[in-house]
Amino acid sequence: MSAVALRSTQWYSGDVRNAYIHRAWMRRGAPDDAFDRPQIAIANTASDLVPCNRHLTEVAAAVRDGVHAAGGTPLELPVMGLGETQVRPTAMLWRNLAAMQMEEAFRANPVDGLVLLGGCDKTIPSLLMAAASVDLPAVVVPGGPMLTGTFRGVPLGCGTDVFRLSEEVRAGTLSAEDFTRSESAMIRSRGHCNTMGTASTMALVAEALGTVVPGLAGTPAADSRLLEAAHGTGRLVVEMVAADRRPSTFLTRASFANAIVALAAIGGSTNAVVHLLAIAGRLGIDLTLDDFDRIGSGVPVLVDLLPAGRFLMEDLHRAGGLLAVLGEVRDLLDPSALTVTGRPLVDHLDDAPVWDPEVIRPRRAPLVDHGGIAVLRGNLAPGGAVVKPAAASPHLMRHRGRAVVFDSIEDFHARIDDPDLDVDADSVLVLRGCGPRGYPGMPEVANMPLPRKLLEQGVRDMVRVCDGRMSGTAYGTVVLHVAPEAAAGGPLALVRTGDVISLDVAARRIDVEVDDAELAARTPSEATTAAFARPARGWERLYVDHVLQADTGADLDFLRGSSGSQVSRESH
Ligand code: FES
Repeated sequence: MSAVALRSTQWYSGDVRNAYIHRAWMRRGAPDDAFDRPQIAIANTASDLVPCNRHLTEVAAAVRDGVHAAGGTPLELPVMGLGETQVRPTAMLWRNLAAMQMEEAFRANPVDGLVLLGGCDKTIPSLLMAAASVDLPAVVVPGGPMLTGTFRGVPLGCGTDVFRLSEEVRAGTLSAEDFTRSESAMIRSRGHCNTMGTASTMALVAEALGTVVPGLAGTPAADSRLLEAAHGTGRLVVEMVAADRRPSTFLTRASFANAIVALAAIGGSTNAVVHLLAIAGRLGIDLTLDDFDRIGSGVPVLVDLLPAGRFLMEDLHRAGGLLAVLGEVRDLLDPSALTVTGRPLVDHLDDAPVWDPEVIRPRRAPLVDHGGIAVLRGNLAPGGAVVKPAAASPHLMRHRGRAVVFDSIEDFHARIDDPDLDVDADSVLVLRGCGPRGYPGMPEVANMPLPRKLLEQGVRDMVRVCDGRMSGTAYGTVVLHVAPEAAAGGPLALVRTGDVISLDVAARRIDVEVDDAELAARTPSEATTAAFARPARGWERLYVDHVLQADTGADLDFLRGSSGSQVSRESH
């Protein structure tokens, strides 16, 4: 039935012993013609320990029906999932391992096409990295956000309101009992975080890239339309196999340019920068950190969602979803970029009205005029660093202050609330040893909690600088992803408490006001280097030895590029 020779026939066709073995063990009641059909792996990141994705098993059943209906053979394939809130020390340490496991599972098995079921933060990025490397026809079904929960009449945004409420507890304006009482209100239903955090961002960005059926991303996990779309996706992937529509045939630089526009217009998570760079790296597309600033920084934020705004993902879906957002910035999109449907992304914008202009602002009245990611450079970040103006305080976008330096997150926690800590509202908090190699895994710690004594004085934001990441649900004037990181020889390792740090977002600068000669003469202190990770074995060792810096996506050096779908040796 397929226009192209199915890859799976390498396993199943013929009457030799190996074909017999491959068929016989898979048969288990399947009819003879099951092996002549496109074999579709439904890569499922669901597990009890990935609570945001647990419902994907039901979604997989809908995909399975769609694959069957279109004449394919569906095969559910559990793959490595990562529960963002559960996995220690940080899910980012395991993103590349998950991507590698998925890639090898896709390549090693007799499959012709892939449906990728993800949701929680690292799951869609790792699925896309794997699919890009193995280059089989692939389409993502994002699991969708959870429904809006309310606590005492007020909607709660996952993550963002945890930070807000916990700071209120620290400031003494909320009781610990009430804080605990809000837990089940915050996590009201199946699905991933409902703010514009990393999961929501990556689902929407995956659609802007062209890897999701247009209009699907952002459908709430509890919405029956998700199952309908999953069924349709199952049908579509069979068509994609017939058309040989592989990632390398439709994911281009233009697709990434559109994803960057979308990232800015939705006010998305800074984590998307690292993930998009990593996915592009798998495709051999020369995407750079500067592309995010060049393409995205002038794009207005139109979506009024937490943490930058007021609403939540359910509201965005009701208001028209990503396609309605993209309709507002259509002139900024590259019309040549294609999607899994085989049609350009812009073709899907003709009938995508905005139903609620409070949630999706019109272009003439944006939430933030220039809202994309700003890329900073300077003697503190020669390889670049990022800041998200939409989540920052306008009065801190140009700032000078004395550095208060912490060598590790443990050092930070030990000293930040010390009443004798020499810190004031103008200080710049510097946290190092939190990059890909130093921690390891580049944890989401850059949005350091403020010193208790300053919170009690009413201070709600300070400039913070870190080589780690920040949760997509967090906010604040945070300079993050500093590259090279301290543990990779970056100058961040050389900053001392009391040095003056200057931030100028408009000029795209982040500098320490120490002259070049003195900076060059400094060496990191023993306390600084002692905090860097030195794993002896296992994945952490492999990771630290091979991880690249944030400015290229923090992938492993030997995982960049595509190896295609060909297995290295046939079995005998
Ligand atoms: Fe899973 Fe936020 S913890 S999406």
